[in-house]
Amino acid sequence: MIAQNWKCSVCGFVAVGLFPPDRCPKCHAGRDAFKTEHGYLFPREETEVIIEACGKVSYGLYLVSSIDGDRLNGQICNTLFQITSDPPRLAVGINHGNLTHEFIESSGVFAASILGREDQRIVRRFGYRSGRDFDKFKGVRIMRGRTGCPIYEGAIGYLECSVLHDRTTDAGTHSIFIGDIVGGGVFGEGEPMTYAFWHDTKKSK
Ligand SMILES: Cc1cc2nc3c(=O)[nH]c(=O)nc-3n(C[C@H](O)[C@H](O)[C@H](O)COP(=O)(O)O)c2cc1C
Repeated sequence: MIAQNWKCSVCGFVAVGLFPPDRCPKCHAGRDAFKTEHGYLFPREETEVIIEACGKVSYGLYLVSSIDGDRLNGQICNTLFQITSDPPRLAVGINHGNLTHEFIESSGVFAASILGREDQRIVRRFGYRSGRDFDKFKGVRIMRGRTGCPIYEGAIGYLECSVLHDRTTDAGTHSIFIGDIVGGGVFGEGEPMTYAFWHDTKKSK
């Protein structure tokens, strides 16, 4: 994808990407407020179809956690998958600005608690506010895995990883961390939560 600058005509904020953002993160103006020097790189209709097709890529939903000394933190993540089976490795995409990013970078470990379809409360708690503002794990039932990372006991299972620092990729806004799987377990038979299921049901829960 080819990135370009999109300038908000209301407040001057500049976003980088193939498409303008849905909303200006600074003044909340809608997509139409964004102007760019070159216009859409594809015809407007095709761009809309590309956005729609991106929305059809499927994902699971996970609570990705890490540690920094005695401190615990975690966030919700859909960009996590098993990238190789031999050796068994996970890849995860984490925004540079997240506290979880800071913790994974410094400790070199992370855990992914595999959420079930009933874990809407966990998504709301871990997915919308930073651990810089409050202790997200306070009152949440956890166990500590082999890496020391907190694991949500209500999950349907978990995997723990040791990060291969030399393989971390800067993907722009996000880092892609790749880790060797060093532990894991299954807690229940529940259906895993998917990104699509979350979006279809979040308002009703
Ligand atoms: C459904 C959903 C999926 C998300 N997926 C990701 C993701 O794949 N990568 C990411 O960096 N943030 C993702 N987030 C956003 C983070 O969970 C959110 O920014 C979080 O507040 C970061 O917390 P932290 O600063 O405590 O680490 C997602 C949020 C939601 C609700």
